[in-house]
Amino acid sequence: MLHVRNGHLLQLLLLLSGTATTLATAETSSAGHGGDERALMAFKAKISRHSGVLDSWNHSTSYCSWEGVTCSQRHPWRVVALDLVYEGLDGTISPAIGNLTFLHSLDLSLNNLQGEIPPSIGSLRRLQSIYLDENMLTGVIPSNISRCISLRVMLISSNTGLQGSIPAEIGSLAYLTYLSLDNNSHTGSIPSSLGNLSQLIVLSLATNYLEGSIPAGIGNNPHLRFLGLSSNNLSGLLPPSLYNLSSLFVLAVSRNKLHGRLPADLGKGLPSIQRFEIGRNLFTGPIPLSLTNLTMLYELNMEDNSLSGTFPG
Ligand SMILES: *[C@@H]1O[C@H](CO)[C@@H](O)[C@H](O)[C@H]1NC(C)=O
Ligand SMILES: *[C@@H]1O[C@H](CO)[C@@H](O)[C@H](O)[C@H]1NC(C)=O
Ligand SMILES: *[C@@H]1O[C@H](CO)[C@@H](O)[C@H](O)[C@H]1NC(C)=O
Ligand SMILES: *[C@@H]1O[C@H](CO)[C@@H](O)[C@H](O)[C@H]1NC(C)=O
Ligand SMILES: *[C@@H]1O[C@H](CO)[C@@H](O)[C@H](O)[C@H]1NC(C)=O
Ligand SMILES: *[C@@H]1O[C@H](CO)[C@@H](O)[C@H](O)[C@H]1NC(C)=O
Ligand SMILES: *[C@@H]1O[C@H](CO)[C@@H](O)[C@H](O)[C@H]1NC(C)=O
Ligand SMILES: *[C@@H]1O[C@H](CO)[C@@H](O)[C@H](O)[C@H]1NC(C)=O
Repeated sequence: MLHVRNGHLLQLLLLLSGTATTLATAETSSAGHGGDERALMAFKAKISRHSGVLDSWNHSTSYCSWEGVTCSQRHPWRVVALDLVYEGLDGTISPAIGNLTFLHSLDLSLNNLQGEIPPSIGSLRRLQSIYLDENMLTGVIPSNISRCISLRVMLISSNTGLQGSIPAEIGSLAYLTYLSLDNNSHTGSIPSSLGNLSQLIVLSLATNYLEGSIPAGIGNNPHLRFLGLSSNNLSGLLPPSLYNLSSLFVLAVSRNKLHGRLPADLGKGLPSIQRFEIGRNLFTGPIPLSLTNLTMLYELNMEDNSLSGTFPG
């Protein structure tokens, strides 16, 4: 999986994705008082065990001061963030989460949440980041998530019970910079619509059961820095556009069934590359001498292919 919580990738991303879009706030925020509280209580009602964090969710104080809850400064009584990372939450995610319509950030990582991701999540048009990694969620990723049009960060990795294909609708989330669905159990092919995510910096789909070829459009995402597709069943060629992506610093496609020859001028099109991992595939032909020109490279994995020659120098 992609370790990002303390890793440099996320920090980098946050630095790079500072441009915020502001949605017109036409709807009245007074609807939140009471409504958001009811939604939070409904959320709590589906949690059977926790670290104690939800003990503060009681009527002795305003819900805006409950642990893990942040309310808006501009829209009184509207919840904008729910942060319950690593709080031993055991239970399911209530569909009432979709009623917290001012939510910008939902972080439920590192818990034991089970059941499905409720499709009502699609009501969260202001949601910019969703973290559900390292839980025990099952079912599919609801295509309604594509209605969360403000999403920048979607981190739903390491839920090995999450199945089904990756919804093609995710390709319409125009602001998405960080998409990580690694270490789930996704099947089917990589939607070509992901090539439309022109702000994408990190794409991590490693360790699933994905098959078919890598859509060429992915190499057209001009900001892409991290592409992790290792440990799937992907076949076909690496799209030529990927050998020519000067923004890329990690290209990891090990343990698939990819084939083809590496371009002789490999050292030219990937000037920023730091990790180049193509091990355990079906690549053939000579190892390009131009690799020596990749001065940033510190991790090279090409084992178990049918490549000839050795790494120069
Ligand atoms: C995948 O997720 C499972 C369950 O969360 C975890 O135990 C395992 O360490 C993860 N594997 C990788 C490669 O991240
Ligand atoms: C969520 O909103 C729907 C539609 O407005 C409403 O019917 C439902 O009662 C709300 N749920 C909670 C827990 O407040
Ligand atoms: C209610 O929450 C307050 C903190 O907000 C806490 O001190 C108190 O113990 C809680 N009451 C119960 C019954 O858990
Ligand atoms: C999810 O989207 C479907 C259409 O794709 C819609 O019919 C349904 O009402 C949505 N569900 C929720 C809970 O928003
Ligand atoms: C990409 O976006 C264009 C323009 O919005 C659209 O016409 C096209 O169908 C999209 N491609 C995919 C594969 O979704
Ligand atoms: C790849 O496909 C083969 C046969 O089609 C299957 O046996 C294997 O489990 C698959 N592996 C992965 C990681 O999807
Ligand atoms: C690589 O980039 C160069 C310069 O931007 C361009 O001329 C060339 O056609 C590209 N090659 C591929 C395979 O995309
Ligand atoms: C490395 O780059 C230099 C300058 O662009 C070029 O002249 C040389 O041929 C390259 N070496 C290889 C082995 O491609």
